[in-house]
Amino acid sequence: MIVTFEHASPDPDSSDYALDEACKFIAADDELRRRALERKRRPGLKQSHFDLYDAYRWPIVREGDLVGCSDGTEAKCEQALGLFRQRVSICGHMANKWGQRCLLLDTNCGPGGYVWESEFGNRHSRSLIRGTPLQFLRALAANGRIDTWSVAFMDIQQRHCDDLQRRIEECRRIRPERLPEIEVSCGDSVVLGPAWVREHFKSSERPYGLVVHDANNGLDPVLLGELGTLHQLEHVDFAMYVPAAKHKWHRQDISERLQFCNKSVWLIGPILRDHWQHAWLVGSNWPKDPGYLKLGFVRWDSAEGQQRWQTITTTYAQRRQTAA
Ligand SMILES: C[S@@+](CC[C@H](N)C(=O)[O-])C[C@H]1O[C@@H](n2cnc3c(N)ncnc32)[C@H](O)[C@@H]1O
Repeated sequence: MIVTFEHASPDPDSSDYALDEACKFIAADDELRRRALERKRRPGLKQSHFDLYDAYRWPIVREGDLVGCSDGTEAKCEQALGLFRQRVSICGHMANKWGQRCLLLDTNCGPGGYVWESEFGNRHSRSLIRGTPLQFLRALAANGRIDTWSVAFMDIQQRHCDDLQRRIEECRRIRPERLPEIEVSCGDSVVLGPAWVREHFKSSERPYGLVVHDANNGLDPVLLGELGTLHQLEHVDFAMYVPAAKHKWHRQDISERLQFCNKSVWLIGPILRDHWQHAWLVGSNWPKDPGYLKLGFVRWDSAEGQQRWQTITTTYAQRRQTAA
């Protein structure tokens, strides 16, 4: 598994790092000193955004950063790993049987991995989180036939794409045989996502695999509408990490957005007990796929699915009113 960058110090008490102008990692103290001197020489110079990395060169993420990390993120990523392991196995099998390829399109990849420093935390309380891209590569390295997979990671922030690209390059240097063809693209996935699918898969192809959508503000209806019309994605399941409470608090109509995906079956994963009541939702055109049920998913239209749905999309007062 990808752990360190070349020359990274294994001592967690050693200095944090910063990226200098040449995009080299140097001790954060040195970089701060250099910037202070620069400001002295050129008064009025604006302080630039200061990106910090820990001793292993993982980006340090705090409350309010656009990666949208919180105390529930670790659980999200563990659930994602379970999902990816199972899909890698099932999709690989199906692709082999029907002579197709496999794809993974992660529309909001983030930096790949990061250390989460919660509010009032410090370097000793940081926890390393491997996000959806690294979890997928981990699942693939363990089980998959790498050569059948095409993988695309997309993020609107250049910094995240650079961090992920650096991680992947390091991994390629150490274990090239464990990585598939991967494209990391910076930009709006509404534009990049559908274009990538069209470019890599003919409209007559029916690959197996997953679209992963884990945006900060819930489901993107435009993106889902675009992807939902692509014939190439008929056998590709859509796994989406949904802040379900947006439905009741911000009146974001989740069920309407799900319809844009053109999937006949929806499943709900275990609900996280975080502020936004996040849950993985999966859309598929394969009604009898048993794999998800083993991971604690239930069908949206089952009694338990409806109960989970009600719990996360209605307030306590609304439920009491309905019961009365
Ligand atoms: C909640 S984070 C997800 C991170 C990643 N999936 C993980 O597990 O670590 C959401 C990411 O979506 C990115 N993002 C937001 N809007 C986007 C867009 N329109 N296109 C591509 N990426 C976007 C943000 O920069 C952020 O990194």
